[in-house]
Amino acid sequence: SAAEKGGHDYFMLKEIAEQPRAVADTLLGRIDGSGSLRLDEVRIPPHELREVDKVVIVACGTAFHSGMIAKYAIEHWTRIPCETELASEFRYRDPILDQRTLVVAISQSGETMDTLMALRHAREQGAKVLAICNTNGSTIPRESDAVLYTHAGPEVAVASTKAFLTQLVACYLVALYLGQIRGTKWGDEIRTVIRQLSEISGAVERVLGTMEPVRELARSLAGHDTVLFLGRHVGYPVALEGALKLKELAYMHAEGFAAGELKHGPIALIEDGLPVVVVVPSPRGRSLLHDKVVSNIQEIRARGARTVVIAEEGDEAVVPYADHLIRIPVTPTLLQPLVSTVPLQVFACELATARGNDVDQPRNLAKSVTVE
Ligand code: G6P
Repeated sequence: SAAEKGGHDYFMLKEIAEQPRAVADTLLGRIDGSGSLRLDEVRIPPHELREVDKVVIVACGTAFHSGMIAKYAIEHWTRIPCETELASEFRYRDPILDQRTLVVAISQSGETMDTLMALRHAREQGAKVLAICNTNGSTIPRESDAVLYTHAGPEVAVASTKAFLTQLVACYLVALYLGQIRGTKWGDEIRTVIRQLSEISGAVERVLGTMEPVRELARSLAGHDTVLFLGRHVGYPVALEGALKLKELAYMHAEGFAAGELKHGPIALIEDGLPVVVVVPSPRGRSLLHDKVVSNIQEIRARGARTVVIAEEGDEAVVPYADHLIRIPVTPTLLQPLVSTVPLQVFACELATARGNDVDQPRNLAKSVTVE
């Protein structure tokens, strides 16, 4: 009913709108008065976490994309090697795991069979498993050594939105917590980022307030067959997530690429009028990365692409090459996915609706897949 959807036409719209809250709730009570993380609920003792020498993340679908982003954060802030793998591939390749491996299983529902089988395999090999999950008491957290719950509240729409943002928050918390208890050279940065994370919900809110041009653009593209997405660094998984949303909801051919790979193949796909969404990293800090992505935008535009550029406020370098410019707030590089994903969700939702699809119940998909 309309009441259940909080006055929105679809659960997905309601859940997109709930994201600032979901993000804030997932941080609630986890940062103490001195600005340090308190994750006592993660019942793996700090001395065991200090001995971890490898992190392996397993997940499916949208949760897998949050795990891809987590890899950048974990390796940067903890200096522990981290790999992220599709849960459905994991156990079949005989992965190398032992007591010093921390496996992180990410799942909104806590019931995804591929992820459950991956975590069972990890535990059989002696690895510790930490679940990041949105559903209290579900199977995946029950079978794990520890759980960090996301507090997105129930997610009804098949395509994940607010659960994804809270999975990102939980992944950042795990990365920062491991960095905090192990003490790396990034100690000052970790404290700063914890503070910035505590303010990020306001930035998500601001993005939501500027989405009308994105909806307009989405409607204007409803007749296209293909949309490509490019990103680099943490913007790469964001590009994959933007493409996944469009496949799931609009049933369009949508693909995400690492912007640096463009020249190794995908650039052959660029033709006149092809919409290409580019997620641009912050021009501050890793400016080399930013400049490379700006060159990529120039390259595809010179070949006829219609560029949709998602870039930080104040990033003027992108302006001459953006057919459509979507502004996001200034955010630390690693946290940018929390704001850059939001326009892509709105874009997919509006485009799918314009094509006459039911975004809450896309064809052939289930909210939770309990078969392997
Ligand atoms: C299904 C859903 C996706 C979801 C994936 C993983 O395929 O349609 O939206 O990302 O499962 O679900 P989980 O509950 O494990 O996060």
